[in-house]
Amino acid sequence: MESTSVDDIFKRALTSTNIFKDRSVLRSDYVPDKLYFRDEQIRIIAETISPILHGARPSNIFLYGKTGTGKTAVAKYVFSKLSQTAISKSIFVKLSYVNTRMAGTEYRVLYEIARDFGITVPHTGLSISEIFDRIFKSVSKENFSGIITLDEIDFLVKNHGDDLLYELTRANEKLSSGFISLLGISNDLTFKDFLDPRVLSSLSEEELVFPPYTAEELKVILAERIKIGFQPNVFTDAALNLASALAASEHGDARRAVDLVRVAGEIAERNGLKKVDEQQIREALLKIDQDRLSDALKSLPLHSKLVVLSVASLKESLSTGAVYTNYSLFCKRLNLSELTPRRISGLLNELSMLGIISASTVSLGRQGRSKRPKLLIPFSTIKTVFLNDPILFDVLNMIESTG
Ligand SMILES: Nc1ncnc2c1ncn2[C@@H]1O[C@H](COP(=O)(O)OP(=O)(O)O)[C@@H](O)[C@H]1O
Ligand SMILES: [Mg+2]
Repeated sequence: MESTSVDDIFKRALTSTNIFKDRSVLRSDYVPDKLYFRDEQIRIIAETISPILHGARPSNIFLYGKTGTGKTAVAKYVFSKLSQTAISKSIFVKLSYVNTRMAGTEYRVLYEIARDFGITVPHTGLSISEIFDRIFKSVSKENFSGIITLDEIDFLVKNHGDDLLYELTRANEKLSSGFISLLGISNDLTFKDFLDPRVLSSLSEEELVFPPYTAEELKVILAERIKIGFQPNVFTDAALNLASALAASEHGDARRAVDLVRVAGEIAERNGLKKVDEQQIREALLKIDQDRLSDALKSLPLHSKLVVLSVASLKESLSTGAVYTNYSLFCKRLNLSELTPRRISGLLNELSMLGIISASTVSLGRQGRSKRPKLLIPFSTIKTVFLNDPILFDVLNMIESTG
């Protein structure tokens, strides 16, 4: 970019009227002072964990519901209240919050728990059982009451199995004094199927569902956020109605609603507008969906990326057999051992759930039925994302040279 245009950007930033009052409240990890329509869930969690205030072990709790139904916000809200009460009454509790998707590995999850509990653990190098030992020893020695929140726990279990959860649910048997309770949160309702029945029954001593919000509820939540996030009279009612309706149309997702409002505001700001109207909401929707797809593509495991490229390299929607042939070719090129056709079929299903490909089934008459995988996003988008991955460079070239 030319330096003059950078100057222009800064100049515009200085002269444009700021439509935001407080941008930070529009971030999706912001926890508002008032959480609407969740009194019941807040009450049940608070009641379940309150025994900790007189030194008794609370039941483990398991929260589940789709994304943007307020699980993280509610959990953080109740725990910050608990922490305030404990501090004001000098009660010794230790609280840990870990998002297992962001932590990424079992080691990192345990590292963060240890850190929250004030136990020193190196960034790398210990065995998992060694960290467990240190945590358990410390709880016993200091005789403390701990609650560990494991958010987006479905990620951990799907990627690393349920060993870590198994150890944690059995922790209390190993502690000579003190205790650890667990609060698990999952965005995926089918996640229970991945759990060992013993882990499941221990984790869900108490279980709580977060239903999706209705469009009307989202409107109340958004109106409040807009009031504290934007200058008065900036956000039009029409824009508010559209954002609520759009966010409700998939599954009543408050995160999507808040994202729409923030991104629409940024678009208005960039265009020097004084109001946020329906048009900016529509543009925000497009941008968010594009970003979401790029993120989904970027975070795919290598073999899924190769499957995407294999589907992309087929001129028409062909059979899963043809997808597998190309996929094997790419694996050979990259010196990778290929996964079985069965696994690839599983990966194709996952990709279709992510909205990256469609895998409609067609009837072949006498020959039965077959899946016809087809790309749902432009190849240019895939290329832009995958070009950042040096391993895929070769394969992309292969496709381009035969295309
Ligand atoms: N009941 C509510 N009242 C106000 N804001 C809410 C409510 N539920 C969710 N939000 C907001 O919506 C966004 C997403 O909520 P979050 O708790 O992260 O959802 P989840 O963890 O279920 O995916 C956050 O910005 C949160 O503050
Ligand atoms: Mg969450």
